[in-house]
Amino acid sequence: MTAKTIPVDPFDLVVFGATGDLAERKLIPALYQRQRAGQFSEPTRIFGASRSRLDDEAYRAFARQAIADHVPADQVEADQVERFVARLGYVPVDASAGTGFDALAAAIGDSAAVRAFYLAVAPGLYGAIAERLAAHRLVAPTSRIVVEKPIGRSLESACALNDAIGRVFDEHRIFRIDHYLGKETVQNLMALRFANALFEPLWNSAHVDHVQITVAEAVGLEGRADYYDTAGALRDMVQNHILQLLCLVAMEAPSSLDADELRDEKLKVLRALTPIDGGNAARLTVRGQYRAGASAGGAVKGYAQELENGASDTETFVALKAEIANWRWAGVPFYLRTGKRLASRVSEIVIQFKPIPHSIFGEAAGPVYANQLVIRLQPDEGVKQWIMIKDPGPGGMRLRHMPLDMSFADSFNVRNPDAYERLVMDVVRGNQTLFMRRDEVEAAWRWIDPILAAWEDNGQTVQGYTAGTWGPSASIALIERDGRTWHESV
Ligand code: BG6
Repeated sequence: MTAKTIPVDPFDLVVFGATGDLAERKLIPALYQRQRAGQFSEPTRIFGASRSRLDDEAYRAFARQAIADHVPADQVEADQVERFVARLGYVPVDASAGTGFDALAAAIGDSAAVRAFYLAVAPGLYGAIAERLAAHRLVAPTSRIVVEKPIGRSLESACALNDAIGRVFDEHRIFRIDHYLGKETVQNLMALRFANALFEPLWNSAHVDHVQITVAEAVGLEGRADYYDTAGALRDMVQNHILQLLCLVAMEAPSSLDADELRDEKLKVLRALTPIDGGNAARLTVRGQYRAGASAGGAVKGYAQELENGASDTETFVALKAEIANWRWAGVPFYLRTGKRLASRVSEIVIQFKPIPHSIFGEAAGPVYANQLVIRLQPDEGVKQWIMIKDPGPGGMRLRHMPLDMSFADSFNVRNPDAYERLVMDVVRGNQTLFMRRDEVEAAWRWIDPILAAWEDNGQTVQGYTAGTWGPSASIALIERDGRTWHESV
């Protein structure tokens, strides 16, 4: 089965930070895949802009290499690669010094195509770039700006960044990427909830015991110490990706998929999160940091040993018990956890339903387990609905806990596109449904800031965990204190 490709209007995309990691690993491969899928209309152009003194040809060589390194070999088709790189141009631009913008304006010329500026650069440059684009009359009425996280490291800094961008671009022209929203399985969460009548009547505190959201990574720092050591897992993963997942699980049904309808509902969830602060942080949060251990079969260093100065109190793991104070979810804990150098790479959402109110089966039938819906976001994307069934055979009534198992790889024989493919095309289409609105980002920080402050004020230091395990023992205690256990993700 092949997914249908609907072409987008011609566009000019300018990628600032064109030789950086994001452009190389994600944007160029994603754009190449859209070329290959036949989604571009003519004339579509892509301009790289960064401080490196390259020319068009050198940038095309960079892109060819990025495709060779980051696209699976069986998807690298020489003629498509050449058609793709022919769209590329390059302009040296120094955003801090403000040089190169005239040359960029000249390169773009008088085009009436959709224009998008993708800022794959440090957030400290967002304001300066936006201003310079305006000063050089590069911002046309159809222009859009795309920014990546981290959008600030606190509510205050996020507001300052949003203000700086907002001085030049209206909110409906600002596309704040949370790449988790572009993942197929994350969108599938909406399909599961709102394209089926089955789940919604049960999706509340009367029937759900608790929810777990796990985003576990096997990788460590990956050479990002400068950023990561000043951020930590709470800012890096919870403020954005995990809270977005929580919103999609917990929100009311929007009346349509219209961007603002959906984002209004997510915002209500963020605003309803019960505050975690100095009074309860020690009970509701766990901070961890990986120590030396084994991961992916090999010995790995501890986090602190990977740093130049060999010491740090930055968390590489966090577990939280969150609650949403509204009618639907009152009393239903949402256990959230994420970490680096954990036992395996797995992201999943578990909806644990309440047990049956009364069993008609005798002891010989065995235990009756409560139903569980497991939505596996990555890898091995799929949905498992655990139910009780009768063990087949004449041996009397014995019960078994079995999954109705839908693996997307088995059910659909299509390539799972990278989140960036969908998101960049949505920018061109002007569809903001899968992008974060300003008030959402700020509401998320409003909940995160007091946790960070509590950790600091209470001196809640990191607890060590061996690389290749599921995090500090305190994370297990966090959920087991409530008589529950983390879902075995393996
Ligand atoms: C990024 C974080 O936003 O998401 C990284 O900054 C993390 O630290 C990454 O590794 C995880 O994304 P994915 O798509 O690999 O789950």
